[in-house]
Amino acid sequence: MHQSAVSLEFDWSFFDSQVIGKDHGVSKEELEKYSNQAEKVWKKLIEDKERSQLAFWNILENDLVLAEIRNIEQVVRKKDWENVILLGIGGSALGAMAIFRALRHPFHNLEAKPRLFIMDNIDPVTFLSLLDMINWERTLVIAISKSGTTAETMSQFLIVLDRIKKKLGASSVRDQVIVITDPEKGILRSIARSTDIPSCSVPPLLGGRFSVLSPVGLVPALCVGVDIEMLWQGAVWAAKRAGDNHFMDNPSVKMGLYQFIFDSEKKKPIHVYWAYSDALYPLSDWIRQLIAESLGKKRADGTSVGITPIKALGVTDQHSQLQLYREGPNDKVIIFLGVKSWERDVEIPSLEESVGSLEYLGGHTLGELFHAEQRATACALAEAGRPNMTLWFPVLNAFTLGQAFFMFELQTAFMGGLYGINPFDQPGVELSKLMTYGLMGRKGFEEYAAIVEKFGSWKR
Ligand code: PA5
Repeated sequence: MHQSAVSLEFDWSFFDSQVIGKDHGVSKEELEKYSNQAEKVWKKLIEDKERSQLAFWNILENDLVLAEIRNIEQVVRKKDWENVILLGIGGSALGAMAIFRALRHPFHNLEAKPRLFIMDNIDPVTFLSLLDMINWERTLVIAISKSGTTAETMSQFLIVLDRIKKKLGASSVRDQVIVITDPEKGILRSIARSTDIPSCSVPPLLGGRFSVLSPVGLVPALCVGVDIEMLWQGAVWAAKRAGDNHFMDNPSVKMGLYQFIFDSEKKKPIHVYWAYSDALYPLSDWIRQLIAESLGKKRADGTSVGITPIKALGVTDQHSQLQLYREGPNDKVIIFLGVKSWERDVEIPSLEESVGSLEYLGGHTLGELFHAEQRATACALAEAGRPNMTLWFPVLNAFTLGQAFFMFELQTAFMGGLYGINPFDQPGVELSKLMTYGLMGRKGFEEYAAIVEKFGSWKR
């Protein structure tokens, strides 16, 4: 076992029919009913892994990814960068955001250098505001796109290249830009080659939302001083345990099976990832994309499947969503993401004069209040027959976060098998891409612009 091995913990009790009732909870018998199907799906996953067709697992079997990152490290360390700007969207941004927020100071950009700006949208006001503010001489740009063709990232990239050339001269592009993309395919790869921009490769079979443990998530993390070896070790450790243990003891399988049963048998298609820690909130964004884009699909017979993942933040959303979750339609499953021990805590002072209704707070810490509220929320939901479970980070560090990334990736692949769909493609996002090409005047896509025109009158 790795020295700093601290394992994620899982409290399933409020999923159990014995606790929350048989209409809304899941019994042992119901879990067992699916064990054959689960075993088949599991065996297929292991076969795919053995045939090197399960990229998110296969990348953890050797150190090629880390070696790739070491190659680029000299560019990262070349200057005393003041800013790092990440250009990327979807799977090319959300992993880096989750790592950055979980493992760095909550106000990193105010207290440390380099600052990290993750530009995962093309809102012109936000984008230009950043570009106008920064000192270009001390700014490193990381352009990330697995396909190397994504319109949003490519547009950002062209704008940034133009800025650097105009401000610092064309040759500076080689010193200030890193490209992370497919080793062969895509226009971003061609540009990197023709202009000599340093680059890192994303393993060819690894799709965007499964790529956090590749240069896509790890290079930005390295830039801001995250211990990426430890993140990697956490994932490797979780992968090894998943392979060694009986499949039903595997948290990815258990979580996947529960969520599948809640969706298909208990009429609960909405799954809330409720982070009880500011630092874990962007992780729920990463999970949301992983689940939505991987599992929201049509089967071969044309039926639609998938759960709807949404996110919430504790304790804030107790004052926004909890009323709905406890008394609204019982169509939700709640997965709390909790941290057991806080890195810092503060005692709530007692007032000298006695103020009756506040006396109970004095002497407790904010962390205690936070945990009491989390526990009370979970119990209040259970009391109303609302299924919920807690995934605990005993401590939130690179090792436990690495485990969580692997655990959710494996769960998603497993659920893809249960639903009978391919979790690694995203055919449903294609049409709007083609329509956008048509609307932007790309040659060969005129027919898609025509479909849009036919549909309506929405004009700018
Ligand atoms: O998971 C996915 O495949 C997508 O969300 C992609 O990450 C997103 O569309 C960006 O794609 P790319 O990295 O090719 O620019």
